[in-house]
Amino acid sequence: MDNLISLVNKIQRACTALGDHGEASALPTLWDSLPAIAVVGGQSSGKSSVLESVVGKDFLPRGSGIVTRRPLVLQLHKLDEGSREYAEFLHLPRKRFTDFGKIFELPQVGSDVVNCVRNWFYLLIANRAAAVRKEIADETDRETGRSKQISSVPIHLSIYSPNVVNLTLIDLPGLTKVAVDGQPDSIVQDIENMVRSFIEKPNCLILAVSPANQDLATSDAVKISREVDPTGERTFGVLTKIDLMDKGTDASEILEGKAYRLKFPWVGVVNRSQADINKNVDMIAARRREREYFATTPEYKHLANRMGSEHLAKMLSKHLEVVIKSRIPGLQSLINKTIAELEAELSRLGKPIATDAGGKLYSIMEICRLFDQIYKEHLDGVRPGGEKV
Ligand code: GDP
Ligand code: NA
Ligand code: MG
Repeated sequence: MDNLISLVNKIQRACTALGDHGEASALPTLWDSLPAIAVVGGQSSGKSSVLESVVGKDFLPRGSGIVTRRPLVLQLHKLDEGSREYAEFLHLPRKRFTDFGKIFELPQVGSDVVNCVRNWFYLLIANRAAAVRKEIADETDRETGRSKQISSVPIHLSIYSPNVVNLTLIDLPGLTKVAVDGQPDSIVQDIENMVRSFIEKPNCLILAVSPANQDLATSDAVKISREVDPTGERTFGVLTKIDLMDKGTDASEILEGKAYRLKFPWVGVVNRSQADINKNVDMIAARRREREYFATTPEYKHLANRMGSEHLAKMLSKHLEVVIKSRIPGLQSLINKTIAELEAELSRLGKPIATDAGGKLYSIMEICRLFDQIYKEHLDGVRPGGEKV
């Protein structure tokens, strides 16, 4: 399973390097066939908190606020125990950010994930490499201009660590109802369109995040996921802030599937509150408290084994595995087609290709070969390492 996901990660990166990054396009692209998980919801609904819980690691500051201007494609790559953690931006290949200790100690200032990660690296590099800082700023500005415009071209950030699972998560800007801070009025619609352009792809699993202390009927996440996935095949409803519901009300009707039924049952979570964040309550303590909350609250006791962040992470990982397996044949024929097209293009050009393009071509072909190899090994029921699946 890990091998499959890590392979999908590689293909995704190659796609982006080749200019295929999931932007709305008339033509079906390789990216469109790769599974990913996107997190959608209103601002401050708890998206970053859920994302972090799924990852099982503290690395994204959370809080209230700012509108994200670009999607963040966060790829997590599991390293062997004892390996040193590092992070890398796709637009800055070979530049490794290794000082995770510093990153984790940063004050929890925060907003949407992209901004957070960006702030996080800004802070990190502020007293380190001015050149890198400039590169990130330039990279954002190259796409969005210096105004408050948004862009659907994602920032790719990879985190390599022994403490993560192999997974690709796409954090999208929070849906808003009103423009703020001198943003153009079109921003509300622009964000909605951008979010839709990602989640309308059939390969995209949707984590629809809605806060339990607001009426589900008005949930942005529910509305937009219903629109792109009416049958709910790929939508996972996550109910946050259950601990913040008004006294005398509870979410059991929803969690039992009696109200706002989705194909997959809603998963209730209790993330860290702002006070917890300020007090630096860590992930392990937060998960323990979440488990206790569901196990001991009379309204949810009977549902406890299918509530909480850990359950959500397991459910997603299991579902992702099913999706990847079901898509292997389709992916393979698409890749073969791509290779055939590239070869045809090459022979039509009839001359050596430029070093740069050649390098890219080589890498995607290499990936295709790898894919083929793992696919075959997987079919044989044996992992590349030799261990039985
Ligand atoms: P985002 O804007 O959708 O990414 O939301 P965040 O994850 O940044 O969360 C917004 C605020 O809500 C933060 O202060 C979180 O601590 C808080 N929050 C998120 N989920 C929960 C929850 O389940 N319970 C409580 N009490 N607070 C939460
Ligand atoms: Na926020
Ligand atoms: Mg956020």
